[in-house]
Amino acid sequence: MPRYAHIIGWGKYAPANVVTNVDLAKKVDTTDEWIRERTGIAQRHIATEKESTALMAVHAARDAIERADVDPREIDLVIVATATPEYLFPATACLVQSALGAERAGAYDLEAGCSGFVYALATAAAMIRSETFNTIVVIGSETLSRVVDWKDRGTCVLFGDGAGAVVLRGSDAPGGVLASTLGADGSGGELLILPGGGAKHPAGPDTVLSKMHYLKMNGREVYRFATKIMAEAAKQVAARASWSLDQIDLFIPHQANARIIESAAKALKLPPEKIFVNLQNYGNTSAASIPIALCEALAAGKITAGARLILVGFGAGLTWAACAVEWTAAKPGAATLRHRVATGKLRFAWAGIKSLGWQISRHVDAVVSKVIDAVEKKPAAK
Ligand code: UT7
Repeated sequence: MPRYAHIIGWGKYAPANVVTNVDLAKKVDTTDEWIRERTGIAQRHIATEKESTALMAVHAARDAIERADVDPREIDLVIVATATPEYLFPATACLVQSALGAERAGAYDLEAGCSGFVYALATAAAMIRSETFNTIVVIGSETLSRVVDWKDRGTCVLFGDGAGAVVLRGSDAPGGVLASTLGADGSGGELLILPGGGAKHPAGPDTVLSKMHYLKMNGREVYRFATKIMAEAAKQVAARASWSLDQIDLFIPHQANARIIESAAKALKLPPEKIFVNLQNYGNTSAASIPIALCEALAAGKITAGARLILVGFGAGLTWAACAVEWTAAKPGAATLRHRVATGKLRFAWAGIKSLGWQISRHVDAVVSKVIDAVEKKPAAK
């Protein structure tokens, strides 16, 4: 019997701090008009000091897990797609796994730039279909504000922070993530790059002085690549799902630039009501953009049971990815959701206490071991 990977929960998180184009124009040589005309962006959410990739990922994942009504101990795997991880290592996903109380889960980060969430969704669905795992949390979370040069008007106006997550679960019922396509062209790696801080250019005074710790982008070249690949990837994944283009109910593209999305929609001959755009409110949140858009499309009532969705991402790598999803999840009613949120809060509070308990017990264990070693090495008294 074939196995299917269904999205059963979804959630998002956006920092409350909003920075408008007008705010930006006070700090950098730009205008609201330029940003709106060239990108479609009007504002973005920017993380405060206390917010970062792991914390936003945890919020989005908790939201998704509560909606799905899943016990975190049932989760087999946590994947965090991000280009702005909390640290080089450990993986952000491990921090998230602990905070969620997903005790049985494996955890890893997936780095495929702005395509990361769709890459992760495709691989998670494949693992469910092959019956390797049954319940997987897929998260896209980014704190791009920490890696943009706020003096570079060519990039700083484009990006924003946030996180989105879904819970995927296996079932014999048809539907869910039906097909996917993944691609990469590493020859374009330099077009969108954060050169400093890795093994090639380890962080140090030189990398900071030469601003290698900031994201660099050749906007025009990435634009050319994006306009070509978005429609191509969408067509390929629709064909793999045996859908004709006019059977697509909603196209949820990576939210980078309204002109890129319009060009893809034109090539796919999709009318505006079949395209979801929310970049005016968020800017480009990289791997978080598609799951945030999915949540907002659901909240706006644009997705109902049986809807055929195409999700397409593109970005650093260069990479691209698309998934065809037949929507099957029912939206929980207000009372059910309230109950699930209350249960979730208890579970997450308990997970936090347990995680702290393990940290303390590891510490105590280390101290006790040291004492025992010291006692054993002490020469016996004559
Ligand atoms: O998530 C994946 C990654 N990224 C993308 O998808 C980005 C893809 N690229 C783009 O979206 C567009 O290339 C941009 C929005 C980044 C730039 O738009 P563009 O129409 O390609 O502008 P441009 O780079 O060709 O620049 C045109 C002019 C330049 O001035 P000159 O040389 O013509 O005098 C820029 O210096 O606009 C100037 N410019 C700005 N002016 C005001 C660049 N940035 C700004 C700015 N405000 N923020």
